[in-house]
Amino acid sequence: MLRPLIMGNWKMNGTLAEGRAFVRQLCTLLEGSSNVDVCLCPPFTLLQEIRDQIGLTAIFLGAQNVHHADKGAFTGEVSIPMLQELDCTYVILGHSERRSYVGETDAMIARKILAAQSWGITPVLCVGESLEVRDNGEGERHVLAQVRNCLDGAQAEPLVIAYEPIWAIGTGRAASTAQAAQMLKAIREALVSMYKDAGASVRLLYGGSVTAANISEYLASEYANGALVGGASLQAEEFASIVRQAETVPCITK
Ligand code: PGA
Repeated sequence: MLRPLIMGNWKMNGTLAEGRAFVRQLCTLLEGSSNVDVCLCPPFTLLQEIRDQIGLTAIFLGAQNVHHADKGAFTGEVSIPMLQELDCTYVILGHSERRSYVGETDAMIARKILAAQSWGITPVLCVGESLEVRDNGEGERHVLAQVRNCLDGAQAEPLVIAYEPIWAIGTGRAASTAQAAQMLKAIREALVSMYKDAGASVRLLYGGSVTAANISEYLASEYANGALVGGASLQAEEFASIVRQAETVPCITK
């Protein structure tokens, strides 16, 4: 089994004071925690503060997006070297909210993935189908096309993939464990066919209305290596409970 990874995607939430209080509480709740990787992905404005707060703890830092260029005339954007300077280990890319609200395409995401990998930052590629696509029986084809297109030219390492059905994000309507497992299995098979053995080491996360009440069901499946958590990552107690439950999953060490 791969070491579980639990990521908190705060989206556009959190003031400095809230971020500080959250991390203080989380560190206390997670004291003595091991064998699971935990990553917080706050808004850009909080990265430096959260970096300082997590200090020498084992918690990793991630960003929610990045530009593919190292620097230049791209008003409003943030570059990978900037994230690296703030000790970001991960960057979420291709989240469905960015695909639908900002118009990010697979080609744009592919460029960002290549850039992140070239700087040694782990891209967390998000893929997922809408309800309409699923109901038309096109879910798997759609998701696997996203995987192939977004990984065009990319390596299997460093890489994480999060399967996040759009209809499950922020809706309270989480995918069933069977639905999640079926798609994660298809993604795993695609990765192995693309990368051979290296495809077996990519961590696959489930995301979409994950809570402390349902996380153990997903992690019980051999196909989920962790979770990308949105709403439930905003409460330290709930997020810590998710991490604690992930700790009980047998895994290899870091
Ligand atoms: P949610 O969001 O847990 O609030 O559904 C997940 C995500 O968008 O990553």
